[in-house]
Amino acid sequence: MKVTVVGAGGNVGSTVAYTIAERDFAKEVVMVDLEKKVDDKTFYPSKGRALDQWETAPIVGFDTRLKGTVNYEDTKDSDVCVITAGIPRKPGMSRDDLLEINGNIVKSVSEQLVKHSPDTIIIVVSNPLDVMTYAAHAASGLDSKKVMGMAGILDTARYRAFLAEALDVSPKDIQALLMGGHGDTMVPLPRYTTVSGIPVTQLIDSDKLDAIVERTKKGGGEIVGLMGTSAWYAPGAAAAQMVEAIMLDQNRIFPCCALLNGEYGINDLFLGVPVKLGKGGIKEIIEVDLDESETELLRASEKAVRGTVDDFKSLMDK
Ligand code: NAI
Ligand code: 2OP
Repeated sequence: MKVTVVGAGGNVGSTVAYTIAERDFAKEVVMVDLEKKVDDKTFYPSKGRALDQWETAPIVGFDTRLKGTVNYEDTKDSDVCVITAGIPRKPGMSRDDLLEINGNIVKSVSEQLVKHSPDTIIIVVSNPLDVMTYAAHAASGLDSKKVMGMAGILDTARYRAFLAEALDVSPKDIQALLMGGHGDTMVPLPRYTTVSGIPVTQLIDSDKLDAIVERTKKGGGEIVGLMGTSAWYAPGAAAAQMVEAIMLDQNRIFPCCALLNGEYGINDLFLGVPVKLGKGGIKEIIEVDLDESETELLRASEKAVRGTVDDFKSLMDK
């Protein structure tokens, strides 16, 4: 089983690669990035990261081979490809500021990937996430079951981590669902949040829960404010979890960015929804009941994402 990660000389991509290697379920992880020229020297960040990570194998104890490269021929016959290539959000930048630069990168990377692995599955991480997933689908020509975006697992993990802290319980016992776009309009769903089966609303005051929901919505920005660049440990772990679910045919139910064709009354839009992930990619989009206020929030998120996709389409038509 072979996985390719593009942008793997960077923070998120190298973390995706390493998390996969540590879990030891793949035969090979190919780490693609550009070469970098500084003065008269040329550097190869993905080769360096791959070598450094491989040198931990005797200590950590895994067999997965890590190969850094600048050449797409090395990605041939990858089962799953993860795209983290792009520029990250800097302080003061919105995810949508990244639209044009990352759109062109994701388009060309997707074309290269399917050229060498025509049956692959693509997981997009680059921002703005929902639009970049649309761009990868359009550029790759792959079936929509094979193209998806990672955001919901990360956003839900943040929500679960904050709840675990507030309740002083194990984060492992918190189950939660979150829908919508990866941005300020994401839709955390307290009605679908439980602690070992106990509805979270029975364990926490509504004002505290509301504050956690608001903190979750701004979770990406909180890290940017602290570090001057965006997060990588949790995003990398989240994307690796999707790869694992697909490659081991685990049938995990995760919130992922998927193409909707009528589900939730939404057509022709990539948006975060619960899906069943396993062999072949998205096996099913799961439609949960939403009440009036939840539906209203999802519609607002749909509107925001559709607006950005339309902006992206106009930029690309220019
Ligand atoms: P980074 O700057 O550390 O890494 C990005 C890498 O992409 C760089 O090494 C760069 O050389 C490479 N790259 C750029 N153009 C390329 C091309 N054409 N081909 C191959 N590689 C190319 O950035 P970081 O922090 O790893 O973030 C990567 C992306 O992931 C950003 O767009 C960021 O906003 C996004 N992100 C998304 C999250 C999500 O929840 N979906 C969470 C965190 C980050
Ligand atoms: C995050 O949520 C910036 O999308 C990135 O951390």
